[in-house]
Amino acid sequence: MNLKQVAGEKAASYIKDGMIVGLGTGSTAYYFTKKIGELVKEGLKVKCIPTSKDTKKLAKEWNIPLTELAQVDHIDVTVDGADEVDPDFNLIKGGGGALLREKIIAYASKKLIIVVDKTKMVEILGKFPLPVEVTTFAWENTLSQIERLGCKATLRRSADQPFITDNDNYILDCQFDKIENPAELNSKLNQIPGVVENGLFIDMADLVVVGKDTTVEIVEK
Ligand code: A5P
Repeated sequence: MNLKQVAGEKAASYIKDGMIVGLGTGSTAYYFTKKIGELVKEGLKVKCIPTSKDTKKLAKEWNIPLTELAQVDHIDVTVDGADEVDPDFNLIKGGGGALLREKIIAYASKKLIIVVDKTKMVEILGKFPLPVEVTTFAWENTLSQIERLGCKATLRRSADQPFITDNDNYILDCQFDKIENPAELNSKLNQIPGVVENGLFIDMADLVVVGKDTTVEIVEK
């Protein structure tokens, strides 16, 4: 069974007529968006806000009605994936490079539902390199400043070129191994000039849908 698919599709059961819905990015959120496309075809009335150019493209292909954050005063529910989830529901996100838009949209959402397979549930964050979006200007200097916080940072590349985000920035993947205090690291990172945003999502997720071998587990705070 495809654990990402079961988790992504299950999250669609939280979506009701009239909702404004944030559409996450990545291979798990993909199944949620696809399911929303099917439900829209069957008559579901929603307006959606994609968290990346990739998701926007998919949503358009599946005729999902879209709107923009500037056009609404809130988002009812956002469903998105994660790279790691700890027992307090702190997250590492940004493996796909979409963390900035994902974080803006999650922050504007009344409810954030995270869809993952069971491998993403961890005791402590940090084994997955933390993605940090930085300006292209002086990125080498920003990298050095970030490494002073106790990690090894690497410029993300794609086909031998620096990976460029939807917002025309770079991503530094920061290997911390163990992030003992995610809230503190989140604010320290965002105080460094040149850091646009980082992939730590602190106290934002309300519910996690975990794809397990034969079931889907719903974990609530
Ligand atoms: C996109 O930038 C990420 O935050 C994804 O949500 C995250 O990397 C999880 O992706 P997968 O569902 O593809 O593992």
